[in-house]
Amino acid sequence: MRALVVTGSPRRNGNSALLAKSAAEGLSDAGHTCEIVDVSDVMNGFLRDCRTCRKDNGECAIGDGFRRAFLDSFLPADGIIFATPVYWYGMSAQLKAFFDRMFCYVAASYPGAERVVRDLTGKRIGLISTSEETYPTVAAGIVHQLHEYCRYTESTFVGAVHGIGNARGEVENDPSQPLLRARSLGQHLFERHAADYTIDAPRPGRVWA
Ligand SMILES: Cc1cc2nc3c(=O)[nH]c(=O)nc-3n(C[C@H](O)[C@H](O)[C@H](O)COP(=O)(O)O)c2cc1C
Repeated sequence: MRALVVTGSPRRNGNSALLAKSAAEGLSDAGHTCEIVDVSDVMNGFLRDCRTCRKDNGECAIGDGFRRAFLDSFLPADGIIFATPVYWYGMSAQLKAFFDRMFCYVAASYPGAERVVRDLTGKRIGLISTSEETYPTVAAGIVHQLHEYCRYTESTFVGAVHGIGNARGEVENDPSQPLLRARSLGQHLFERHAADYTIDAPRPGRVWA
């Protein structure tokens, strides 16, 4: 399968990037193709008002690397792992802007919108987050947002790994071993059991064989 890891911290070699690298190694271990895209490398601006910003041919007028990353790396991927530090109890502005910028390509005024909508659906999605604080719901806002993204795009939210640390790379010392868990998330992104039932969904009596 083809996977993409999207990293959203401005701090290179920081905690979320370290976990992202581990997840990418797990994906490679399992024989999947994996690319890492750092949002800071491909984006230099927020979404603008598409109605006034869009070019006459319907293309986004923001001249950075987002278009390429989104069309050539994000859309073709079967699975995506997003990695972000907790910033003010949400994802980083960098990663949020990556989500926002997709809007330009799903809007009806973009000539390829139909294909974009089709290719956005049905992916396997994982989340990696890091924070200084340790209480259990510190990243709940991010988890919830990603769950809604998955519901909206008919994707499958496979799992979330959270690591604790503040200084660069400190997440390595988190006794809950987030590096190992991130690696496992990558390794099993495409076959890990993931259930989100509706009341009428056919379901087996047991979860594990
Ligand atoms: C702007 C900013 C906001 C932050 N907000 C929070 C927060 O709300 N809760 C928290 O526990 N840590 C917060 N932190 C700490 C980071 O989440 C923590 O240092 C994390 O490990 C950084 O990951 P990184 O190395 O991938 O950037 C914040 C850090 C910054 C720079």
